Amino acid sequence: YVDLGSALGATPGVSRDSLERLDEQVATAHERIQAGRRNSQHGYAALNLPETVDLDAIRGAVAPFEDPAAVLTVGIGGSALGAATLADALAGPADPDAYFLDNVDPEHVSRLLASLPLDRTVVNVVSRSGTTAETLANFLVVREAMADAGVDWTERTFVTTGESGNLCDLAEQHDLPSLPVPDGVPGRFSALSTVGLAVAAIQGHDLDALRAGAAAAADGLSGSLFETPAYAYGATAYALTGRGALTNAMMPYAERLETFAEWFAQLWAESLGKDGLGQTPARALGATDQHSQLQLYRAGPRDKLVTLVRPRDRPDFGIPATELDGLSYLGGSSLGELLDAEFEATEASLVESGVPAIRVEIDAVDERSLGSLLYEMEAACVLYGELASVSTFTQPAVEWGKRAARGLLGGGDFEEADAVDERTSLV
Ligand code: PA5
Repeated sequence: YVDLGSALGATPGVSRDSLERLDEQVATAHERIQAGRRNSQHGYAALNLPETVDLDAIRGAVAPFEDPAAVLTVGIGGSALGAATLADALAGPADPDAYFLDNVDPEHVSRLLASLPLDRTVVNVVSRSGTTAETLANFLVVREAMADAGVDWTERTFVTTGESGNLCDLAEQHDLPSLPVPDGVPGRFSALSTVGLAVAAIQGHDLDALRAGAAAAADGLSGSLFETPAYAYGATAYALTGRGALTNAMMPYAERLETFAEWFAQLWAESLGKDGLGQTPARALGATDQHSQLQLYRAGPRDKLVTLVRPRDRPDFGIPATELDGLSYLGGSSLGELLDAEFEATEASLVESGVPAIRVEIDAVDERSLGSLLYEMEAACVLYGELASVSTFTQPAVEWGKRAARGLLGGGDFEEADAVDERTSLV
């Protein structure tokens, strides 16, 4: 459910008439998206995942790992954030703990490895290209730590990667269980594929419900922003960017959706930040950031859209009554009611000061709603990319950095490394 109400009369804002005119472009963009899906073109194929993802293959690949205490994903960017979003949103107290090694900070890596029960940890190495330096370096460190602890790492590792590359070779050499990264699905669009769902399978989440939620969102795509929540969000964000909302603050009101904001930030930034265009994603968490960033959102530069996300239903907790008269308004209420009041107060405060806010509501933080939410944000992003005529599914700036870092370590691509040397020597 997407409510654009408070984005219409705001500053920057967009009028209903403008959205009606934009809807003609949405219709054309939708035709291009559908054609891309029919032809399984690179990127658009991600929107077919509800039909194409092989859940049995995912369950089969993780089945050999019985009763793990933890699952450690070694991957970065799109090869980690989808799985992390689902794990942080869905994990219950009895599920194996999910950890993500997506940075090569040596202090963090050594602390994490020291804290893990390596003999009961499943290692999930994920890299579409099979060449990402951070992922491969971390994996080499992890497998040595396992060997040092007397654990046979080949018994505790599975690999998710493309059809060729170092990781593919490694899986073959050591006969590791492996899952393919589907063709045509860029990393940041892979949450609903083998890449994002394997950890969810290990944690015992309902993959069918995740897929069903995504499938329902896919079925709901139509040629009008007034009929499709995903397109309403994508088109309005696009229109607002053109009118000056250069930042999009994603602010879920649920701790379990904090990583979702991080996932969204990658999707939005890496897909739409091209040709001098794009909308900078900011990450916030309600109600915590009402006591920090909200000041800026309400009273700072008029260059923002605030996206407020909440579940309509959540487990709740009563607030005990107190002997203090001044706190009597809390007694008999609940933490959930207080959080909802905070949400509505934030929305009202933004509306009152004319800042555009879009409200996104999901039924609950559960598999089905998560499947829908991730799919709809991906569809919104693809639509925005079509309207802005950018190449949504490429990431040349990210690739440049990857090649240059490898080059600086002597791993080929010396031209790029020379360029880095030249630039740093100017400073
Ligand atoms: O979305 C993307 O393409 C990137 O964020 C990649 O997912 C990230 O760079 C990791 O790449 P790889 O899976 O090849 O290791």
